[in-house]
Amino acid sequence: MWTKEALKKVIEKQLGDYLLIVVSNREPYIHIQKKGKTVWQRSAGGVVTAIDPVMKACSGLWIAHGSGDADKKTVDSDNRIQVPPDDPRYTLHRVWLTKEEEDGYYYGFANEALWPLSHISYTRPNFEESDWRMYEKVNRKFADAVLYEIKDKKAFVWIQDYHMALLPRFLKEAKGNNIITAHFWHIPWPNPEVFRICPKRTEILEGLLANDLLGFHIRYHCENFISSVEKEIEARIDRERFSIIKGGHETLIRPFPIGVDYEYVERLSESEEVKKYMQNLKEEFLLDYDFIMLGLDRIDYTKGILERLRALDRFMERYPEYKGRFVFIQMGRLSRLHIPAYKNLNDDINALVEEINWKHSQEGWHPVLFVRRHLSYPEVIAFYKLANICVVSPLHDGMNLVAKEYVSTRIDNSGVLVLSQFTGSARELEDAILINPYDIEDFSEKLKDAVTMDREEVKQRMVKMRNQVAFNNIYRWAGKLLSELLKFEFRE
Ligand code: F6P
Repeated sequence: MWTKEALKKVIEKQLGDYLLIVVSNREPYIHIQKKGKTVWQRSAGGVVTAIDPVMKACSGLWIAHGSGDADKKTVDSDNRIQVPPDDPRYTLHRVWLTKEEEDGYYYGFANEALWPLSHISYTRPNFEESDWRMYEKVNRKFADAVLYEIKDKKAFVWIQDYHMALLPRFLKEAKGNNIITAHFWHIPWPNPEVFRICPKRTEILEGLLANDLLGFHIRYHCENFISSVEKEIEARIDRERFSIIKGGHETLIRPFPIGVDYEYVERLSESEEVKKYMQNLKEEFLLDYDFIMLGLDRIDYTKGILERLRALDRFMERYPEYKGRFVFIQMGRLSRLHIPAYKNLNDDINALVEEINWKHSQEGWHPVLFVRRHLSYPEVIAFYKLANICVVSPLHDGMNLVAKEYVSTRIDNSGVLVLSQFTGSARELEDAILINPYDIEDFSEKLKDAVTMDREEVKQRMVKMRNQVAFNNIYRWAGKLLSELLKFEFRE
């Protein structure tokens, strides 16, 4: 079984004199100004949830965009800071971006072009030449930060996500085989028909093919990537090795379904801190119901939040006897609000919550509580613990770690997971109640199944899901990736 300790040992042994460097856009810890004071927060999101425990176990260096308004005040002259700030285990090197760079690279090309292009959720990508130029420029900036850290040493650079498609090429051009790169694409890869609309498809493919290894959550996304290469550029596909050879350089393409730090989440969910948060939340939201349903997402059009609310509305129309007996808490973290599609979505959710609450409310009871605020990690866990039903309904998602985190907190094997079949997690968590978020009628019926499922069945399903999440934990994900790349075996 892969554990934190096993991964640490493997890294020490296998990496030898190579530095371990992670690169991502989002930084794991952010410093902000609050009421005249500098405070820090752990960032939310899939990449941080996954990589932070690995870095804590293995030390190393993480390079990311310093996006907090107090970030500059807290670094040393090399833009470094030890994190987590309350218990330092590894180094964070912050890269500074100008407003124009952030606009073009992050809001523009990464999130208005690549994000909708990769997720089939029928939001039209927007390709702007000026955004592309910023994307290129910022990828060079990250390459410079990596090269600054490496100097004349050798390094294993582990690149995260769609913000960095050009970085591997820039690194290899500068350092050749002194750098090994593995790149994990945390979101889906679209089919070739969708990908071919991207005006910069050749540059993106060539950037990614500079990697030694390129990982996706599931095999289907690997196959989509290989088909895109086949259709768009000159390269040799080696079906046997599941690799692509371009200009004499081989890139292994592999699926690595990401996981969570199961043991840590389990331990945290039994802590006094979480128990205290649960009590506070119960008091704050007057949570005295037969059951509590929970949705917990970044506000994003891929997450199926409107579809979930519509299904809830239909559920109450069809089964009014449940009114007054439950509450649906939708926790939402606002993000990417400079992009019109995100702002509009936020407005649409507000309007729909208002409409549903007006339509179904009775004697002071409102079915939906929409809460938007930053939650500390223990608070997130407290919400999971309070929820009898967790609804995860993306229209398309590479994996979705909310589903796996929820399962990790259900120590007493209670709790029902309602999960979109269009997430990577649905391939592993077959004992969830699987839904199609586009089919509102069936979705509402599945909510009824969740509410009425008998205890024995709830338990049996949860036990199986917990075993799966415990086995395929985050250390296994990192370990599998490393063993594939560095060619060693680990007996599980
Ligand atoms: O999972 C995709 C992803 O972009 C991650 O890289 C990130 O952790 C998460 O979504 C949150 O997005 P952002 O960093 O843009 O807030």
